[in-house]
Amino acid sequence: MYKIGLIPGDGIGPEVTREAMKVFGAAAAQAGFQYETVEYDVGGERYLATGEVLPESVLEELRGLDAIYLGAIGHPDVQPGILEKGILLKVRFELDLYINLRPVKLYPGVPTPLKDKGPEDIDFVIVRENTEGLYAGIGGFLKRGTRDEVAIQEMINTYKGVERCIRYAFEFTQKRNKENTLTLCDKTNVLTFAHDLWQRVFREVGEDFPDIKKEHTLVDATTMWMVKNPEWFDVIVTCNMFGDIITDLGAMIQGGMGIAASGNLNPESVAMFEPIHGSAPRYTGKNQINPIAAIGAAGMMLEHLGQAESAAAVEKSISNLLASGKIQDLGAGRMGYTTEQVGDMIAEGL
Ligand code: IPM
Ligand code: MN
Repeated sequence: MYKIGLIPGDGIGPEVTREAMKVFGAAAAQAGFQYETVEYDVGGERYLATGEVLPESVLEELRGLDAIYLGAIGHPDVQPGILEKGILLKVRFELDLYINLRPVKLYPGVPTPLKDKGPEDIDFVIVRENTEGLYAGIGGFLKRGTRDEVAIQEMINTYKGVERCIRYAFEFTQKRNKENTLTLCDKTNVLTFAHDLWQRVFREVGEDFPDIKKEHTLVDATTMWMVKNPEWFDVIVTCNMFGDIITDLGAMIQGGMGIAASGNLNPESVAMFEPIHGSAPRYTGKNQINPIAAIGAAGMMLEHLGQAESAAAVEKSISNLLASGKIQDLGAGRMGYTTEQVGDMIAEGL
């Protein structure tokens, strides 16, 4: 019996969460496993009504779950940063979800903006460090609002944090068993302290993985290769900030935000799954948003729970629907189907 926490969140979050859990439920029925869900109403509405962002009691409950599913966080009437830092980043940090796993996979039948590239070229995974770097929230202001202002934001890299991320990436590359190549993406030519540590740890941990080919690219060049020769990548490991940036690029080359899914993992305990897209407030309640990214995240959740066959079935069902060409355009309001209908088709496809 799995215990799953749901944070449907803001905007279109609840709509896509419903479809994701519909498919999850169909997969559970098929595989014959049991689960129960607990829903948490955190997000912009609750904050505006009560001033609460993420109550301590909710955080405590989340720690005891098998997995968490998050729809989307972000509200047009709430100042940027409050919900992102107070909910999303807080859960990542407090639950020590130190890996952000973001597959970049172009399904057959999905258009990519990359000329002359197809599904065989765009199929790699980005392992983003998820609890340190520029996201650590260390810094401050001096003389704020004056011409003498100093603003400092520190980039935190600990040996432990870098080591566990890189080790996970090597293990993941080995398990994936595709090209058996792990690429370290950094900026050693400028961040000569922080990313010197990444380089040294990459070499050190790499000794335990003699069968994995090691590559290195600077982050600016990585964006170039992702566009020019995405087929060169198998698994990329990178720091929090660079991972944030290059995964949006990754989402675009795999067909857009309607497709891209992710998992925030602590391989030893709980994990949280979410589509990469935001809360798209304009589309709230319209039943027009594409739920495929959200359903893909539910598929990743199945994998994390040890239901590999169900995860593969969800991926196959998504892939079949996309390959069928039924969905003309992956953008919200242009699919030719409602959010609910797309969810139904993927659930039935199982
Ligand atoms: C993401 C998002 C978040 C991040 C924001 C909403 C804080 O962009 O998950 O990539 O920067 O990590
Ligand atoms: Mn991002």
